[in-house]
Amino acid sequence: MKAPTCVKNEMTKAETNESESEPDPPEASDLKVIVANLEVDELEGIGPAMKAKLNATGIVTVLDLAVKSPSDVADAVGSDLTRATELCNKARAKLVELKYFDDDFISATEIYRRRKSIERISTGSKSLDDLLAGGIETQAVTEFYGEFGSGKTQICHTLCVTTQTSREQGGLGGSVVYVDTENTFRPERIAEIARARGLNTEEILNGIVVAKAFNSSHQELIVGELGSQIRTRGVRVVVVDSAVAHYRAEFLGRGTLSERQQRLNRFMHTLVRTAEVYNIAVVATNQVQSSPDTFFGDPTKATGGNVVAHTSTYRIYLRKSGKNRVARMVDSPYHAEREVIFILDEKGIDDPPEEASSSGRRKTSS
Ligand code: GTP
Ligand code: MG
Repeated sequence: MKAPTCVKNEMTKAETNESESEPDPPEASDLKVIVANLEVDELEGIGPAMKAKLNATGIVTVLDLAVKSPSDVADAVGSDLTRATELCNKARAKLVELKYFDDDFISATEIYRRRKSIERISTGSKSLDDLLAGGIETQAVTEFYGEFGSGKTQICHTLCVTTQTSREQGGLGGSVVYVDTENTFRPERIAEIARARGLNTEEILNGIVVAKAFNSSHQELIVGELGSQIRTRGVRVVVVDSAVAHYRAEFLGRGTLSERQQRLNRFMHTLVRTAEVYNIAVVATNQVQSSPDTFFGDPTKATGGNVVAHTSTYRIYLRKSGKNRVARMVDSPYHAEREVIFILDEKGIDDPPEEASSSGRRKTSS
């Protein structure tokens, strides 16, 4: 299922590079405010009882409803799927009517114009940013997968810091939600990275909301309720480290594979819709399955299999190479498939010193 595309960017005019040449229509900022405050009972057919049920599960605005899949809504309010689908369609139709969402048919020129307004966040490494054509994109899910110790969690920690820096420094001046499923979030490491980058550690720590997910259902609940955090805290990046660990631990054996894939599929689609609807970047990590008996092809396969692979917008495979780390862009719709080297140090993710990097890769930024 294709998620709806957010047509209005969260950026204000002053923040937009494009603002000089392509000014927003005069009503754009008003529209943003209108949509942010458009509550579910503004939709025809939603009375006080349904409103209360939706509110109780964190669905307050029409935008919150548009992010959900019909099955999420059916579960949340205890209705059948037909009624839930009707509610989701109404939310979407309302946002199309207000010109906040794209119409179903849209010209390629218009998509191209809108894609130019996608924002990017530096990973902390110039070479990794290069691989990503400038950094982690908003309105997309970027997946980092690789073996243990390959740097997935370190990338997530560094992003918690870089996202909060100004646009000139490669950030978006926004805060971060960190969904921690493996209990590996370390504020001390955040403080170290912030200090090494010359930032105020207290301010950086204040800009991160951590949600510990105890199992897959809890993880789904947290991600389903992101709307209010995003609205009230100016969140620009949501990290899910790791997206698949709980599913992997809870659904063992072949008999449970189909349910696992269904749940994971639903979860990943919620992430995609959240990224697009709220114009934020979502970063998810994924482990690799080691298959030492595999002699042909890649012995390491991402755990989520096709589900995560097909849902993520961008996928980056990480591996260790001595003290360095190697990142490879995999299956991107428009990035070249190539590899870059980065390192892990007190700044989190960093570029290797020039002499240590091979084949003319970028030199260190510091
Ligand atoms: P799993 O979650 O186990 O699958 O691995 P991961 O890919 O998330 O690995 P992670 O990002 O936690 O990377 C761990 C590696 O980062 C360690 O082997 C260390 O080399 C490095 N590392 C972790 N903390 C620090 C630190 O404070 N300083 C430096 N220089 N390196 C660190
Ligand atoms: Mg990790």
